[in-house]
Amino acid sequence: MSRMTLKKINSLKKNHIGISALTSYDASFAKLIDDCGVDIILVGDSLGEVIQGYPNTHSVTMNHMCYHTEIVSRAIKKAFLIADMPKNSYETKSQALRNAKKLLGTNMADMVKIEFDKKYLGIMEHLISSGIPVCSHIGILPQTISNKKDYKRIGKTMNEANRLIHEADLIEKAGSQILIVECVDSNIAKKITKNLNIPVIGIGSGKSCDGQIRVIYDLFDISFNGAPGFINSENIRLNPIKKTIEKYIMNANRYKI
Ligand code: KIV
Repeated sequence: MSRMTLKKINSLKKNHIGISALTSYDASFAKLIDDCGVDIILVGDSLGEVIQGYPNTHSVTMNHMCYHTEIVSRAIKKAFLIADMPKNSYETKSQALRNAKKLLGTNMADMVKIEFDKKYLGIMEHLISSGIPVCSHIGILPQTISNKKDYKRIGKTMNEANRLIHEADLIEKAGSQILIVECVDSNIAKKITKNLNIPVIGIGSGKSCDGQIRVIYDLFDISFNGAPGFINSENIRLNPIKKTIEKYIMNANRYKI
């Protein structure tokens, strides 16, 4: 199967075929997910939590992102690869462009992701007009919150709903080519998905988005800080990894040579 492209991802939206996306940070998981046929892999700055064991993503640097992006990129053959720009890596136009270029290219990502705030609109437009493919992220913005306790559904009040709908519109008009909506009220996520021509990928935002993304460690319930609440409500707590390790330990104890 050939490499997933933005054109193919757009055609999935047009044909109402759900887009699958997962995070990955290392070669083994990246290859597994890619072989399984996921459409998009995100090297997320969630690596600050699930790989580094911090309470949030704020510790992640450009060096970390480049290291993990290169590892994942080398391991995959098909999926479209997005890399997060970490906190404080896109504060000015020149800094953002310099850092975005580091994450893109041969053996690196196809697109960069930024967490959207109105103050970043000019920076985003600068990236896009310089030829950088950009994915935007709205709703809960992990780079602005300290820990899992601060996660709450956004878009329940009229003000929040209007702001999210407006932000999504600005993002599409600026030329961003994929939108991620995190912990957004499902009715608002549905509305945004209908309004936009670009693919809208949801996490904890209901079933009506064009696609879904999850942190791979949450899917197996092995995340260092525990999985977010919506993973519980989706009833996908599996943890086959824990069972396999427990079985291995039990067997090793029992069958000492
Ligand atoms: O960093 C990350 O893994 C993300 C996803 C939660 C969308 O941004």
